[in-house]
Amino acid sequence: MLEFQNVSHVYGIKTPFEKTAVDNVSFKIPQGKVTGIIGHTGSGKSTLCLMMNGLLKPTSGKILFHGKDIHDKDSSLRELRFKIGLVFQYPEYQLFEETVEKDIAYGPKNMGLSQEDINERIQYAAHFTGISDELLKKSPFELSGGQKRRVAIAGIIAMDPEILVLDEPAAGLDPKGKAEILGGLCDFQKKRDNTLVIISHSMEDIGMYSDNIITMSNGKILLEGTPQEVFSHRDTLIKNGLSVPEVTEILSRLKKEGYDVNDGCFTIESAANEIIELIKKSSLTN
Ligand SMILES: Nc1ncnc2c1ncn2[C@@H]1O[C@H](COP(=O)(O)OP(=O)(O)OP(=O)(O)O)[C@@H](O)[C@H]1O
Ligand SMILES: [Mg+2]
Repeated sequence: MLEFQNVSHVYGIKTPFEKTAVDNVSFKIPQGKVTGIIGHTGSGKSTLCLMMNGLLKPTSGKILFHGKDIHDKDSSLRELRFKIGLVFQYPEYQLFEETVEKDIAYGPKNMGLSQEDINERIQYAAHFTGISDELLKKSPFELSGGQKRRVAIAGIIAMDPEILVLDEPAAGLDPKGKAEILGGLCDFQKKRDNTLVIISHSMEDIGMYSDNIITMSNGKILLEGTPQEVFSHRDTLIKNGLSVPEVTEILSRLKKEGYDVNDGCFTIESAANEIIELIKKSSLTN
């Protein structure tokens, strides 16, 4: 549904600060799935996100949405931004309305929805982001960092976009807040058969929530595939300053030590099962 074809973006072109942030990348975002994008700092993830809903234009290459170039003369970027919702990195700095409720309503209002529809959108967006009725009446400035983040995400969910792009939605949150936000987003994605793009620094988060992973390094795509496929390239990831989830690393070391385990596991649960099986096998042979 969303396709990048040989897309590059260069900042400060023909100046001493010229920087190729995204370098000739091609990929497709599969419909109804969660795509995780991971890469080291400065690898071009945010630049990629900004191009997804037309906020930044590629310096070269094409971006197609349902087969049509988003920068064609007769394409409407305003319409596109309703269909591809982008939650910026650290979105809590962009709240500005008097109440949380009004902040969430801002997008749906701009779309010209009726008050009744807007109220319905506020309710379901609040549900998936864990915002209570009491919180809806508060000023966004009275909230904690994690609560503000939820409000910013709810504001985009309320627009019911076809694709929801989130730039580091869980950055800086504690493990509980992280699990609630990412879990709520995945719940929303499943219930509405939505398409999600999540950018993250954390291999654990990406492994746990994504169907499909794109890894970036210096503006280019390094690896792409299912978590299992991507994490099976441990040495390539490490050589490029990335990692595999900690549990995958543990299994991989056990395997190198000669133990018979599957080092393709990337969730704590499946890794624990591997280790339990290993212990059972060794207690049988001893
Ligand atoms: N507005 C800008 N002007 C000039 N250079 C920029 C601009 N924004 C980003 N860059 C540069 O482009 C490259 C890619 O930046 P980008 O923000 O896309 O990376 P990122 O992967 O999102 O990093 P992070 O993990 O730190 O968020 C970096 O070298 C950065 O310094
Ligand atoms: Mg970024």
